[in-house]
Amino acid sequence: MTQTTKSELLAAESRSKARPRLLIEDWLPAAAIGVECTRERSTGLQPPDKRLHVWWARRPLTASRAAVLGSLLPADFPRDVFERLIGFGRTGSELVEIRRLMDAGVRVQGGFGTGRAFSRPLRENDLTSAHEATEALWVDPVLVVDPMAGGGSIPLESVRLGFDTVANEYNPVACSILEATVDYPIRYGSELAASARTWGRKWLARSEKRLGAFFPRRSDGLVHAYIFARTVPCPDTGFPTPLVPDWHLLKPKQGLRVVAVPQVDKTRGTWSVEIRGIGPDSEQISVPPTPTYGDGKGVSLFTGRQIPSDYIKAKAQDGQMGNALYVVAVKTPTGLKFEVPTKVDVDALAAANLELKKFRPLWERDNVIPTERYPEISSDPRPITYGMPRWADMFAPRQLLAMGVLVEELRNLRPDIVEAEGHDRGDAIEHLLAFAIDKFVNYDAVFSSWHAPRQVMRSVFDRHDFAFKATFAEMAPCGAGTGIDWAIDNTLDSWEKLAKLPRAVDSRPATIYMGSGTRLPQIATGSVTAVVVDPPYDDNVQYSELADFFYVWLKRTQGHRHPDWFATSLCERDEEAVVNVSRFRGPRDTAAPARQRARDRYRTLMTESFRECHRVLRDEGALTVMFTHKKQEAWEALFAALIKAGFTITATWPIKTESEHSLNQARKNAAQSTVVLVARKRLSGASIGFFDREMRAEIADRARRSAERLKNEGLNPVDQLVGSFGPALEVFSRYDEVRTDTGVPVGVDLAIAEASDAVSQWRIEQLASRGLEGVEAEGRFALLCWDVMGAAEFRFNEAKLLGHAVGMDVETLVAAGLVTKEGDKVLILSARQRRRDRPLEPDEQIETLSGPEVRSRRRRRSETLKVHPNDPIYRTALDACHALALRYIEAGRGPAGIGAARALVRQQDWKPDGPVATLMTALVHAAPEAVRRDRGTRSAAAQFPEFRAWHALLEPLIGVPAPDWSEKMPPQLRLPDVPGSDAEDAGFPDDELAEDDWQEESEEV
Ligand SMILES: C[S@@+](CC[C@H](N)C(=O)[O-])C[C@H]1O[C@@H](n2cnc3c(N)ncnc32)[C@H](O)[C@@H]1O
Repeated sequence: MTQTTKSELLAAESRSKARPRLLIEDWLPAAAIGVECTRERSTGLQPPDKRLHVWWARRPLTASRAAVLGSLLPADFPRDVFERLIGFGRTGSELVEIRRLMDAGVRVQGGFGTGRAFSRPLRENDLTSAHEATEALWVDPVLVVDPMAGGGSIPLESVRLGFDTVANEYNPVACSILEATVDYPIRYGSELAASARTWGRKWLARSEKRLGAFFPRRSDGLVHAYIFARTVPCPDTGFPTPLVPDWHLLKPKQGLRVVAVPQVDKTRGTWSVEIRGIGPDSEQISVPPTPTYGDGKGVSLFTGRQIPSDYIKAKAQDGQMGNALYVVAVKTPTGLKFEVPTKVDVDALAAANLELKKFRPLWERDNVIPTERYPEISSDPRPITYGMPRWADMFAPRQLLAMGVLVEELRNLRPDIVEAEGHDRGDAIEHLLAFAIDKFVNYDAVFSSWHAPRQVMRSVFDRHDFAFKATFAEMAPCGAGTGIDWAIDNTLDSWEKLAKLPRAVDSRPATIYMGSGTRLPQIATGSVTAVVVDPPYDDNVQYSELADFFYVWLKRTQGHRHPDWFATSLCERDEEAVVNVSRFRGPRDTAAPARQRARDRYRTLMTESFRECHRVLRDEGALTVMFTHKKQEAWEALFAALIKAGFTITATWPIKTESEHSLNQARKNAAQSTVVLVARKRLSGASIGFFDREMRAEIADRARRSAERLKNEGLNPVDQLVGSFGPALEVFSRYDEVRTDTGVPVGVDLAIAEASDAVSQWRIEQLASRGLEGVEAEGRFALLCWDVMGAAEFRFNEAKLLGHAVGMDVETLVAAGLVTKEGDKVLILSARQRRRDRPLEPDEQIETLSGPEVRSRRRRRSETLKVHPNDPIYRTALDACHALALRYIEAGRGPAGIGAARALVRQQDWKPDGPVATLMTALVHAAPEAVRRDRGTRSAAAQFPEFRAWHALLEPLIGVPAPDWSEKMPPQLRLPDVPGSDAEDAGFPDDELAEDDWQEESEEV
């Protein structure tokens, strides 16, 4: 028997067996992965791939690796090996426990005592175990595909694990980033960085020779930034007047503030500034100067009169908006100094202007600078509104001169690089240097700015748009450690670290394709073991519109290598899967239909992409989708697209990518989560399912069981809820279509609601073991909110789900005076917010069949829904609980408070086993950490003191022992080191941060 026939036989045998469960379908240390994802983001220094080049909405490496590996391994793969392979230096449960202690304010000496997961070495024998397990499971070689690869987190992790990988991406800028991320490091090794540095120095020297004169050196230090104001002619005098929204140069939270104070010469029509501190001394001023720009409008320095925003835009479009250098920030040996520009500075600017004029025609002819027009159809029309119709207009003349010289000199150096290094290697080096230009340009446009609170330059992509900036900052390109030198260093340093990330010895470069994920013609049908993808969501990021900023430069530095990638004027958009209303808005359209069309297009593209995933995937393979969006509609759309494309959903794993620590302060459960969702090809012949009692019971049972499991894994209640959706939807998505008994199609939302109801019911049982008999829907809702959401503020759809579980819609909850709604947000009202000024009079209430009701002609309805601690009667158990808390607090807490509350209990004849007592006990058990201890006036505990009141009243009023809320945490803790962790993590220590003090690194947006 030949080898092939044997493997074919084995393959047939394995296919005929039931699809084996994958690790990611059965278990995943989601909480600990979340801890590592948080570490990835929170130490101040992003992983090197994120620092190489700007790309938006990048995923954490640890979550990406877990998604890839979990989709390939069988469910019985050993946990300890899996945890080591995803980079844990301690067991998952230890990591979760350390994080919990840290979040509770314990100072854990030495931190986690182990390097961050993405940087830890991979043990050879663990990798062998993983590859043996995948070979046994899949028989054929494993192939992992990410059809929307962006900056490349997913393919990078797949490559590092040693699997064959394809990275497909629609955007050419992202493709360019992918080359440097998932190909060069493996093809050329980290040594390439050293060669690139040598060429970088030559390039820098040549560029400096041409640019040095335009950036005069200073005797006292290096220029950190030139700070400019945009100007328009004053409408009355015609003199150029600056638009400055804030004159601060230094605005630390504490310490000396420094401002530029404008000095105006009204006769000559000129202005300059004096640099002054703010304070009581004679040379200081007491208040900062009045801004001359705000809300789009200006104020003339010469007349003090307002300048309308239409006038500013008109002047900008007419080419009359100017730039005035007013401060130079200099790094001196004694610290940062702000100086008034000298004549030398001003002359240098004028000379740069002339130089640009000289070169401009040549550069336009030779395609050195971007002459492309900013697109007329765009979600952000501001560059055109503010007089920047071409991409080159986004640069002040000296900035454009610097960019032109850098591009030209890199081109001039190209033949030498290629001759010395060989064609491919030379190309790669030039590519990395081109990325240094991209790094530099992010700090060298009229959108880069000075950040007075942190005394750093802010990059263009500090924001996700091209908002007009009335003041901007220019980075000096020349000088050791600054400008382009910094950009080269920073880029190559990031790349070298990326290339040094531990990986399997036999890792192979990923294959990169540029194109839409809706068609992957290079990939054979049924050939892919796992598709792992992190698709765009809705209108979150307009990738191509933002990427154009880099595209127009990369086209000029890299276009020769990939004429097909850089063939179009700007990035292609037609098949980009984003909701971009501007592309669907006709001249007479209102926003709503255009939005609907844009959304429909997005959904079609997503469904088509998933269909293509279905085509390329092996029948037993998994499609794993990473998704970061809190809105539940997003879920529903995603589930629906997957089902439509022929998939069954089998698991959902919420992974926190942000620390929950902030929740102690904040009102909301806002910590970011990435949800990993697993889907499998639906078995053919699935046809129509009925949303009958049986299916609903099965959904409920699955949801409840998975929530229980996730609770044991250490996930919090909201994540238990989200994590239950996948298994529950497996029941629903077995069918091509689901209908009611009467034939009405059933949407995925109903299945989610069914799952959510089941989990909510289960949570309530946990909190009130004896049930909640007699407690109205209002009380059950409040209980669920605090228990599941752990916060007072959440999204409308989350409220809708919990409301559904207790049979109330959000509008009813608002009408019941329990919550308020602000746009998409729903906020629970505290006892204090619900307090009425005066108690009700006995004649203001009546007993109805459904209980007591307030009917008063003298008060507004909203007033009657409130409570007062001395009301004669209470509508609901929740009102009664609020009244008890108010009594306790207002009587001064302690014994007096208990006495006052006890009097109310007696007066109302509330029994220790009645609804009020049951609800109060359950609320105490549902209390999230944030409300248990007062952490200052803005803390959740201060806003909701009722929890501490109920806690204090439990024992004396009901005889129920109160849970221990004391902070028993040690103030400090020293964990034993993980053996060998220091040696293993060499090169990537946890505290390797010291965020570059030169520039604010915000590439990962
Ligand atoms: C959320 S991002 C991926 C980020 C990536 N996982 C990372 O960590 O860097 C989504 C990507 O989908 C890309 N995209 C949008 N439409 C696409 C399409 N039709 N085909 C392929 N990629 C597309 C976007 O350009 C973007 O890079």
